[in-house]
Amino acid sequence: MRILANSSGGVTTEIVFQDQVPENSHLDYARNQVDFQGKLGEVFFFPSLEGAGHMLIGLGPAEELGYNELREAFFNAGQLLDKYRLPEVEVILPALADLEGKKVAEAVAEGFLQSTYCFDKYLTEQTKGPELTVNLTLQQVDTDTVAAGIKRAEDLMAGVFLTRDLCNEPANVIYPETLAAKAKESLEPLGIKVTIHEEEEIRDIGMHAFLSVSLGSQKRPRLIVMEYKGDPDSNFCTGVVGKGLTYDSGGYSLKPSDSMKTMYFDMAGAGTVIGMMLVLARTKAKANVTGVIAACENLISGGAYKPGDIIQSLAGKTIEIANSDAEGRLTLADAVHYATNQLACDRVIDLATLTGACMIALGQEYSAAITNCPEFLAEVSAAAAAAGERIWELPNDKDFAKNNESKLADIKNSGGRMGGTISAALFIEAFLHQEKPWVHLDIAGTAFLDKAQHYLPAGATGVHVKTLVNLFS
Ligand code: BES
Ligand code: MN
Ligand code: ZN
Repeated sequence: MRILANSSGGVTTEIVFQDQVPENSHLDYARNQVDFQGKLGEVFFFPSLEGAGHMLIGLGPAEELGYNELREAFFNAGQLLDKYRLPEVEVILPALADLEGKKVAEAVAEGFLQSTYCFDKYLTEQTKGPELTVNLTLQQVDTDTVAAGIKRAEDLMAGVFLTRDLCNEPANVIYPETLAAKAKESLEPLGIKVTIHEEEEIRDIGMHAFLSVSLGSQKRPRLIVMEYKGDPDSNFCTGVVGKGLTYDSGGYSLKPSDSMKTMYFDMAGAGTVIGMMLVLARTKAKANVTGVIAACENLISGGAYKPGDIIQSLAGKTIEIANSDAEGRLTLADAVHYATNQLACDRVIDLATLTGACMIALGQEYSAAITNCPEFLAEVSAAAAAAGERIWELPNDKDFAKNNESKLADIKNSGGRMGGTISAALFIEAFLHQEKPWVHLDIAGTAFLDKAQHYLPAGATGVHVKTLVNLFS
């Protein structure tokens, strides 16, 4: 897709507010044919013998219009243009009250770009239409401002699509070694330092909890560290840690077949970190950010770790394995400790497809957030809201930590079903170095959708790439 600022040509478009439907022949016709009312996301196309055609785009009630509504409306427009295999469209927007021009351009461009994503590389026959050219004009601001908004949307979507591709790839394609190679090949050309540690180095560092999870697989683990220095005058650095289970069978606490089928997306947190790093470099964000991924597979073999095992960790705490399917928190415990201690990050955010309980609590619409630092979470929440990515805070109450107490070791890796999202988070918190500011996002429900939702596709969503980029810019 090409999106051009202040150019013209192609299908003409008309935006329609539900509470301000104008009187004209196009609207009369659309109302009679399909009861078109200008509701958010409604789109209608008029073919034409002479011109390229005309399209109506519903934006809902004028006073409810925000950036997320624009994303959705123009996503639907993009999908309809693709369905009719149309090559070019022209969008001219009037000034929109209370909205900033650059962000309007960004949201419209994002909506169009979102409509192009599809993971169909393994289908022998693909169904893509022609590449669409979007000519976008905003009466509210000049060409440069529109172009800047378009550029930001393109940069963000490059990261989101990279994340989606990584998560949608099955586990026979993306495993620790190939995930590390993808991170390197995507990020190093942009000036990000990518360091890949193999098994021996991981052992030398002392990440025994991470290594325990990896034992059942012939595909050996990788520790991936990505360093972006966009603010060289500052020493302050944020660590971003992504759960990197390239496959989670549950191990000896084996998952039922139905739950196992899509567990190749258990590296969604890792995918999000890689996509975010790409956008930080492309947008030259002014921040120092270090990404950390402990990548491995949770499988069964004669060498695998077992329920009842007592293992070591990088932080020096011993861990009783209550359930081998609670593997993510073991890898994250070592990874957040490594980020906050060895890598000396000043604060850390982790993203993880961590608990099924999170999907029970918040469904597929909200990620769960837990923190030891309300100010840090407030920053993350503002960044998420601007991105249209919903998060909801769960209580960090130390009563839940009692569920993780073990009689045989310093801590155990499962606190049971009750409050499972919270006890999982508090397990990770116990491994922070010096109790540094920390935000945990459980993306078990939001990272991968059973069916398409608003402008997000079925399968991997790339959720929180935009949140993180907003946090750092
Ligand atoms: N990767 C899963 C969590 C998950 C489930 C993510 C469904 C996305 C969709 C995680 O490793 C897991 O298995 N968690 C267990 C923890 C339990 C054993 C304490 C769970 O939620 O059942
Ligand atoms: Mn698991
Ligand atoms: Zn898992």
